[in-house]
Amino acid sequence: MPPKPVKSAEQIAAIRDLARILSDLLAWSLALVKPGVRTIALDSAIERRMRELGVHGPCKGYRGFPSVSCISVNDQVTHGIPDNTLLAPGDIVDIDLVIEKNGFFADMSRTIPVGKASEDTLRLIRVTEECLAYGIAAAKNGAHLGDIGQAVQRHAEKNGYAVVRDYCGHFIGLAMHEDPLVPNIGKKGKGLRLEPGMILCIEPMINEKGYAVTTHGWDARTSDGSLSSRCEHMVLITPEGNEVLTRFP
Ligand code: MF3
Ligand code: CO
Repeated sequence: MPPKPVKSAEQIAAIRDLARILSDLLAWSLALVKPGVRTIALDSAIERRMRELGVHGPCKGYRGFPSVSCISVNDQVTHGIPDNTLLAPGDIVDIDLVIEKNGFFADMSRTIPVGKASEDTLRLIRVTEECLAYGIAAAKNGAHLGDIGQAVQRHAEKNGYAVVRDYCGHFIGLAMHEDPLVPNIGKKGKGLRLEPGMILCIEPMINEKGYAVTTHGWDARTSDGSLSSRCEHMVLITPEGNEVLTRFP
């Protein structure tokens, strides 16, 4: 049996501090999103800001990934590489950031519209955030990993959307990705039983139409070209239930 991924009080304190820093950094980054901005320019600004804050961006160099941020636009599901893409009104953009300091890691993401987006687009973003909230509510001491997946999947499908299967959440803290995976689909009562001291990233990726994803290297897009939204929080399991370590403003 592999060791259970439970963190000590000291580790939790350090990871909690880093998650606060990341929440502020992500809010700062999303405020730069405007029509006419290139995603590579966002990444450069974020990298400078990380340096000012005294934190590292471990995505850069991870299995050849070239930048500190993952920026996924419209039909891009995840791991978008910042490039010359110009953001246009009505687009949606997901900024996904990981930071590291003193061997501790924090990871979060959020999707926002660029300028004015359609009602349908805004509904996709809203339902995705609701999926995350349901997933978080299910991530309590004594619950199982499958409870999270079921809660996310139920809400997405009830609203006519599809849950991406090919990418999942994960545990985190002393590495960017720790085992086990945290799927966004599942069955109540199945999978690892959650215990105080576990820290997991819940990150629903919700597609407007089909759940299939086509991948070329890092590039991961919906196979049918429909929009994909995602958001991610870090959740600490506590004796009473949980504590969300990251936050949206
Ligand atoms: N936050 C991303 C995730 O949890 C990190 C991706 S690693 C990268 O999937 F190298 F692609 F950036
Ligand atoms: Co993640």
